[in-house]
Amino acid sequence: MNEKNEQKKLDLPDSIDYVLLDEATIKAQVRQMAEEISADYEGIHNEDFLLIGVLKGSFIFLADLSRRLTVPHRVDFIALSSYADKAETTGAVRMIMDTRADVAGRHILIVEDILDTGYTLKYLYRLFDARQPASLRTAVLLTKPDRREVDVPIDYLGFEIPNVWVVGYGLDYADRFRTLPYIAALKPRVYS
Ligand code: IMP
Ligand code: MG
Repeated sequence: MNEKNEQKKLDLPDSIDYVLLDEATIKAQVRQMAEEISADYEGIHNEDFLLIGVLKGSFIFLADLSRRLTVPHRVDFIALSSYADKAETTGAVRMIMDTRADVAGRHILIVEDILDTGYTLKYLYRLFDARQPASLRTAVLLTKPDRREVDVPIDYLGFEIPNVWVVGYGLDYADRFRTLPYIAALKPRVYS
């Protein structure tokens, strides 16, 4: 490792293994996703287009994506829980808080931080589909294809990543590390 990388590594919090996606890389990709979404929803009315962020992990992604959109839209949130305080899944998804806005007849874009087994997004698809939206799509920042257990379509994707536990840019481990500006791999000893 050269000196600069050595120095970068020393600046990281102790539990962080390495930076997977730095700030500039995330920013560029989110901008590109926003351009694509804006083009696809061109001409839409503000009250018809609703971004639904999945709390808590998507709050930073949603904030950045939303501010880059050039089409009018509204923002709402839903809170789910699938994991307790560890990096394990049961496939069981629970709703903690529902959206405030009406989904029926609106164009819905689910904004999710990361697709792992796929159970969370699958649950959301079923939930919103039953409410008869005008359309239903997903914008997902990260996906771990190796971990997929159920098939779910992603309309707008940020990055494919390897099977490591990542934190930062909204993503957490036991509610920590959410506000790191980059996306980093946690040291395996922290979560295993
Ligand atoms: P799924 O239902 O297995 O697809 O899990 C999706 C949810 O698990 C995401 O919305 C995240 O909250 C969480 N998750 C999965 N992998 C990670 C990770 O590497 N870091 C942080 N959260 C994760
Ligand atoms: Mg999440």
